[in-house]
Order: sequence, then C-alpha cells, then structure tokens
Amino acid sequence: MVSGEHPQRVLILGGTSEAIALATQAAQHPDLEIITALAGRTQNPQVPGQVRLGGFGGAAGLADYLRGHNICALVDATHPFAAQMSWNAAAAAAITKIPHLILTRSPWQPVKGDRWIEVEDHEAAAAMLPELANRVFLTIGRQELAAYEPLKALWFLMRMIDAPAPDAPIPPGQVVLARGPFTLGNERSLLLTYDIEAIVSKNSGGTATYPKLEAARELGLPVLMIQRPSMPTAQQTGSVSDALHWILECSQQRREFS
Ligand SMILES: NC(=O)c1ccc[n+]([C@@H]2O[C@H](COP(=O)([O-])OP(=O)(O)OC[C@H]3O[C@@H](n4cnc5c(N)ncnc54)[C@H](OP(=O)(O)O)[C@@H]3O)[C@@H](O)[C@H]2O)c1
Repeated sequence: MVSGEHPQRVLILGGTSEAIALATQAAQHPDLEIITALAGRTQNPQVPGQVRLGGFGGAAGLADYLRGHNICALVDATHPFAAQMSWNAAAAAAITKIPHLILTRSPWQPVKGDRWIEVEDHEAAAAMLPELANRVFLTIGRQELAAYEPLKALWFLMRMIDAPAPDAPIPPGQVVLARGPFTLGNERSLLLTYDIEAIVSKNSGGTATYPKLEAARELGLPVLMIQRPSMPTAQQTGSVSDALHWILECSQQRREFS
C-alpha cells in the first residue's frame, strides 16, 4: 500500500469455517480492512478481526451499509442453508453495483454403500421418519427442531452448537451440545451407544461433519438428506484462496478507479 492510502474495506458475510479462514488470510494484507458480519445467533463466535453482529434489515439495509461504509467487495460466505441472506446479498450487490462473490462448499455426493434418501425439507423428513426408524440422530440446527416435535412416538438424539431456548418446541429425546469437527470414531460410537437407526442431516458439505455419513455407511443406516435451498446466480467459488485472490483484484481495481 502506498503511504497515506486507506485500506480497502471488504465485507464478509460469515457464520462458517470458510468465512473464518478467509478473514484470517485476508487480514494478513495491510491494504485490506476486513469486516465479518454475523447474524448473532451463536454465542462466543470465534472470528478474527472486526465483527459486525446482527441483521442489516433486508437487502435495502445491506445496500445502505455497503454504500455507507464504502465497501469495495462483498463475499457471501454464509452457510449453504442461509438462503435468505444469500438472496439479500445478491440483491444488495445489484443495487449498489459492488462486486459480489459467493464462497460456498460443494454439496456432499453419495458414494457406494450410502443409503441416502434425499428430501426437500424438514417437513418431508419428519413425514418419512416414522416408517424408517424409532431412534433418530438429528444433526440439524436448534431452530429446525420444531418440525420433529409432533413425532412423540420416536426418540431423538439432537446435536447442535447452542442449546434450544427453554420454551422451544423440541421432540422427545436428548440434546447434545458439540461443535465439529467430529471424527469417524466419535460418530461410530455415538450411533452405537444410542442405538441409532437413522440420521437426519442437511447437505451442508465440507469435511468437519462428514464422518457421521461415513459411520452411517459402515453401519448400513439410512440418512435422510435435506437438499440445499435454491441460491441466486452469482460468481461463485469453493476455494478460500480463490476468494482471497478475487478480493485482492477487486481492491486493486477500486484503487485504480478512485
Ligand atoms: N442455516 C444453517 O443451516 C446454518 C448453519 C451454520 C451456520 N449458519 C450461519 O448462521 C447465520 C444465520 O443463518 P440463517 O439460516 O438463520 O440465515 P438466513 O435465514 O439466510 O437469514 C435470516 C436473516 O438473518 C440475518 N443474517 C443471516 N446471516 C447473516 C450474517 N452473516 N450477517 C448478518 N446478518 C445475517 C439477515 O437479517 P437481515 O435481513 O435483517 O439482514 C437475514 O435476512 C448465517 O450467518 C449462516 O452462515 C447457518
């Protein structure tokens, strides 16, 4: 950076390990100022650098923020199931004409031995479960438990990062609080200890939570795999280093045109 120049400001929409990795790497560049935006749902988020907590107030609110904070590039590194935020980001980028990139992991693909049943959403998964199993491992977010609450005859092992609110509707069973990554040994022993007969998972992709699917394969258990919601059309990558490269190019272009 030429002495006297201000760093170029970049907004990362976070909530994923990829967002943390990108913020960490981008922070090494003195000509960049990185802000990570989080919805504020997780307690004690571990994110390097500047963090902005809470929603923006829809696409228009995000557009105001991008303009008001002179953001030169917007990276949507939210979770593949955080569809509302991704649609807002695409709309805000279109309004402001600020360069926009989606950083997202590829979905998991079934391999030989997997017994996946692909379903559209939690309601579809809940409708199928009674015919499939009595004891179920739910590896979904605490805000998605309500769909399974009517299934009083089943028993659920529910793993999540933060506990559900005390008055939140949840199905019968046990809540386990844990944050990945998980190992194959850990997942195998969990499934055996609790006599699990089926798993419900979102197709999040990535390596941190993949071992549950390997354990299910080993044990021949069915997996109800919730499919990803539809996403806006935008420039996209699955690589943190490509995203960093893109940020550096955007900041260079902004510098040249200002
Ligand atoms: N959904 C999942 O399965 C999942 C899993 C792991 C992590 N996460 C992370 O958890 C957060 C919330 O996920 P969600 O599925 O509830 O999102 P969502 O349904 O797509 O978004 C709902 C609203 O939350 C606010 N929001 C979401 N992500 C935000 C962010 N990174 N920074 C600031 N505001 C944000 C926005 O509010 P305004 O309209 O007011 O701006 C958005 O309209 C996301 O950051 C996501 O990356 C989600």
